[in-house]
Amino acid sequence: ELVGLMVKASSQPMPLSHNILPRVFSFYHHWKKIYGATFLVWFGPTARITVSDPDLIREIFTSKSEFYEKNESHPLVRQLEGDGLLSLKGEKWAHHRKIITPTFHMENLKMLIPVMGKSVLEMLGKWSEMAGSGDVDIEVSEWFQSLTEEVITRTAFGRSYEDGKAVFQLQTQQMIFAAEAFQKVFIPGYRYLPTKKNRSSWNLDKQIKKSLVKLIEQRKANASEEMSNGCPKDLLGLMIKAATKEEKSDPYTPTSTITVHDIVEECKTFFFAGKHTTSNLLTWTTILLAMHPEWQNTAREEVLRVCGSRDIPTTDDIAKLKKVNMILNESLRLYPPAIATIRRAKADVDLGSYKIPRGTELLIPIIAVHHDTELWGHDATEFNPARFSEGVARAAKHPMAFIPFGLGARTCIGQNLAILQAKMAIAIILKHFSFRLSSSYQHGPTVLMLLYPQYGAPVTFRCLTDP
Ligand code: HEM
Repeated sequence: ELVGLMVKASSQPMPLSHNILPRVFSFYHHWKKIYGATFLVWFGPTARITVSDPDLIREIFTSKSEFYEKNESHPLVRQLEGDGLLSLKGEKWAHHRKIITPTFHMENLKMLIPVMGKSVLEMLGKWSEMAGSGDVDIEVSEWFQSLTEEVITRTAFGRSYEDGKAVFQLQTQQMIFAAEAFQKVFIPGYRYLPTKKNRSSWNLDKQIKKSLVKLIEQRKANASEEMSNGCPKDLLGLMIKAATKEEKSDPYTPTSTITVHDIVEECKTFFFAGKHTTSNLLTWTTILLAMHPEWQNTAREEVLRVCGSRDIPTTDDIAKLKKVNMILNESLRLYPPAIATIRRAKADVDLGSYKIPRGTELLIPIIAVHHDTELWGHDATEFNPARFSEGVARAAKHPMAFIPFGLGARTCIGQNLAILQAKMAIAIILKHFSFRLSSSYQHGPTVLMLLYPQYGAPVTFRCLTDP
């Protein structure tokens, strides 16, 4: 029944409606009507409880979080995401999180603003050439992927940008192979078969690791010089600094707890966690603004008023773009790039009035919480950014109803970067272009790890002023 519902739901384009839950989370939608907000499904030998009650979600992520841990990803996903922050657990996770957190401090991110702005303007320059004085159809998701890749590369590698870019290009190719292998996931042992594609993917993996090790060794060799010039706050610099400090502070321990392997894995995680999530946010926001011209105009007016003649918004401008912020939140609510997350009970634990046995998996369907009419009102499936006008905490009937970046200690470390980048890009686009859905656009939200437009995202742009 489950497979039937999924296949049926994802085969055809749908009307231009934001009521997408029956399509992308059909089993949840179907069974919630019968069993309520919390129910159990057996996936083979694994019991998985779906929890969409916000009080229980709060328990899992905050007040009783010590009883839960992340579950293991599918091996194909694990290969892509690396053994970094996303999948680490316990002390090692806490140690890495502490080291990496400063990469995302606002002071540090601010330095990226001019580079981000320049990348957006370059992209728009190309769009403008393509449009000339007329209309042009642009497949926005591909462009946004290149844009976010650029920013992630700078955040991770800073001054080693060019070398880092080459590594991430290999990782992009690897993701394409993995997506293909995923479609054959039902063939037992498929990923171990020495098919041409699997062999290419294994080779890529080796190349990625080799290039990253070379890059890390180079930076390590220059570490003392870098630190005397002020420590670089890119991911690579911070991790190398922490590793060097550990090696020095305890001469009896021959090696640091942070190894070159750890740094390699964190670089892979960064790319995996940051690129497609942020480009999806940009894609869905552009589609939503194309569908809702009244909000597009409102946001454009705000951008023109706040940014004036400045080509690239300043940090102050960014803080004043309230309407753009509301629109991004509404986009994250209706089309959250990560539609769900999973935790596993480490011990027997009480969850509300339920007794959860050790080993049980809990599925938190972020998208279902975001579309719940009991939390968001009768217009839950409509695009209405005004609901965020008094801030995120007051937008719904429960403060835990909006969780696009997760919750608690393991909340998304890159959320400030994602929002900053999205605000910059949307603001600059609005200033220079008006846009509507292309006549070839077909609405088909689908899930391939993240929430994607199944039939692409062609949007028709018209240049208002040259970028
Ligand atoms: C964790 C969503 C952008 C890096 C998470 C989680 C969510 C999420 C839901 C929590 C997963 C869980 O609890 O199981 C998003 C969305 C993004 C975004 C919607 C953009 C719109 C980014 C960016 C980066 C990033 C730009 C890095 C450059 C991470 C990492 C974690 C994480 C490393 C794991 C944190 C930990 O467990 O300590 N993200 N993310 N994310 N995200 Fe993001």
